[in-house]
Amino acid sequence: MTTVLITGANRGIGLELVKEFLNEAGTTVIATCRNVSTKSELDTIAEKIDTKQVQLHIVPLDVSSDQSVADLATRLKDQTIDVLVNNAGVYLDKGKGLLDADFSKWVETFDINSVSPFRVIKELYPNLDKSENAKILTISSQMGAMSRPSSGSYAYCASKAAVNRAMIGLALDLKPRNIAVAVAHPGWVQTDMGGAQAEITPTQSVKGLYQVIKDLNMDNTGSFFKWNGEIHNW
Ligand SMILES: NC(=O)c1ccc[n+]([C@@H]2O[C@H](COP(=O)([O-])OP(=O)(O)OC[C@H]3O[C@@H](n4cnc5c(N)ncnc54)[C@H](OP(=O)(O)O)[C@@H]3O)[C@@H](O)[C@H]2O)c1
Repeated sequence: MTTVLITGANRGIGLELVKEFLNEAGTTVIATCRNVSTKSELDTIAEKIDTKQVQLHIVPLDVSSDQSVADLATRLKDQTIDVLVNNAGVYLDKGKGLLDADFSKWVETFDINSVSPFRVIKELYPNLDKSENAKILTISSQMGAMSRPSSGSYAYCASKAAVNRAMIGLALDLKPRNIAVAVAHPGWVQTDMGGAQAEITPTQSVKGLYQVIKDLNMDNTGSFFKWNGEIHNW
């Protein structure tokens, strides 16, 4: 029995991750999204699944809200979490340069992309610590890699670089607890964020990310993976 919690699960890569994990009998997926009042594809999936094989719980979570994350932790008290996927993210300065910089958007970007994965991990640490081999994968981006200089979109790139760097430290700190921590670039994916012209489909990305999660262990903890399982340069 494996319990998987995914943030930003109502669309894009998060939604595809939900579908992929539900293919595995014995899995409980906790699909979190900030707006549960609007019927989403998650509700349609929940109506169709064979609940003797898998479970799907759709739970509200705004990763940028301390209260929302605390409410989630209260709701999940004593629940073991084996896999946490920090997927929720924003790209608010797409294509923007120096003279377009909007610093309130910088703060929002950092809050969601860099701080929120830690907000979620901190609150759910007791749940992760109950698992015998918990895994945390944070969906980052190649745009946060120092080895790959790119122009513009400074807030997004810097927010992903920041989360990458912080996750390295966390991987070291959680090693004694047997909790593996990694970051992954999901590819350039055809989602609302990636756009229709992106290189790969959500299905292609998530087939790879699913295997990355399966293969994540205490030997490769602290790594930056590409969606296809290769190591990404920092
Ligand atoms: N697509 C790409 O090419 C690409 C490339 C590199 C990295 N990534 C990363 O992959 C992850 C998923 O991206 P995607 O392409 O699937 O993007 P997407 O289609 O825009 O979906 C983003 C998801 O994040 C959620 N989200 C944003 N802010 C949130 C908050 N405060 N609380 C809870 N959920 C929140 C959104 O929820 P709402 O529906 O409520 O807005 C949505 O479910 C992101 O971290 C992104 O940076 C994507």
